[in-house]
Amino acid sequence: MGRFSGKTAVVTGSGRRKGLGEAIARRLAQEGAAVVISDLGAPRDAATPGGMIGASEEMEAIAADLRAEGGAASTFVCDVRDYDQVRALARHAVERHGGLDIWVNNAGIGYIMKPLLEVQPQDWTAVIDVNLTGAFFGLRVAAEIMVAQGRGGRIINIASQAAKSGFPHAQAYTSSKHGLVGLVRSAAIELGPYGITVNNVCPNHVTTGLGAWQNEYFSKVVGAASVDDYLKQMAARIPMRRPGLPEDTAHAVAFLCSDEAVYITAESLNVSGGEEPH
Ligand SMILES: NC(=O)c1ccc[n+]([C@@H]2O[C@H](COP(=O)([O-])OP(=O)(O)OC[C@H]3O[C@@H](n4cnc5c(N)ncnc54)[C@H](O)[C@@H]3O)[C@@H](O)[C@H]2O)c1
Repeated sequence: MGRFSGKTAVVTGSGRRKGLGEAIARRLAQEGAAVVISDLGAPRDAATPGGMIGASEEMEAIAADLRAEGGAASTFVCDVRDYDQVRALARHAVERHGGLDIWVNNAGIGYIMKPLLEVQPQDWTAVIDVNLTGAFFGLRVAAEIMVAQGRGGRIINIASQAAKSGFPHAQAYTSSKHGLVGLVRSAAIELGPYGITVNNVCPNHVTTGLGAWQNEYFSKVVGAASVDDYLKQMAARIPMRRPGLPEDTAHAVAFLCSDEAVYITAESLNVSGGEEPH
């Protein structure tokens, strides 16, 4: 019996190896939750290129790993930009696993980065659609089910250090993540009376698939001699002297999902080794 035995969790964007979503899903499954691994499954358009998204085989492999480790897991393909698909994902969780207790909006894109004067309207929209509107869709459908169930719940967005500070070449990304701060503050007010908490987790850099792309990109932007050099400079400015690990974020999510965090809502919790103090 784990802390989340008898509970069902959905983690969006959890079908990519080495991602924060995979680590979060694993942690929740290890502690007894039945977990839905959800992701795009295949490229859809220019904003979701192959190699940068969770493919169907990867989703299935991650779910199979969790089952092999003793957990309960299913998969469901969902583009979080499409409200009907997000509703179908929530229905899947309820029908397959018997309810919905934890919803983690983890899906995000951070590989459309450009200098301000090169950003096109479609670049802006592509990022906001996934990172902010997609998270709102998830929160909206999860909240409706949790309110109807009447047994409380946990809704968590994986925001970012970019929810608190600005970053160059990342106007849409930082705006989408700052937007999540407003989203949890307002949603928490309406959902508190139902025992549903709504929070953001704000990691600093983690070398996931997305993070590795950012290392390549930003090491060139700052003129670092190499990606290794760029990462050494990054580690030197972080009080804990290393970038984040997927497990650091998973620990924070597990805490916010636990009974111990029942009185914590509307928060945006930094998991940044002290790099982000706000
Ligand atoms: N890696 C970091 O440094 C870092 C730091 C802070 C916050 N984050 C945030 O953490 C989350 C996970 O990122 P990650 O670093 O693990 O990268 P990742 O690329 O491994 O995970 C992101 C996932 O989102 C999925 N996704 C993208 N568009 C989608 C859509 N329309 N519908 C459904 N799924 C979609 C991708 O397929 C991918 O599996 C993101 O929200 C990201 O912004 C990452």
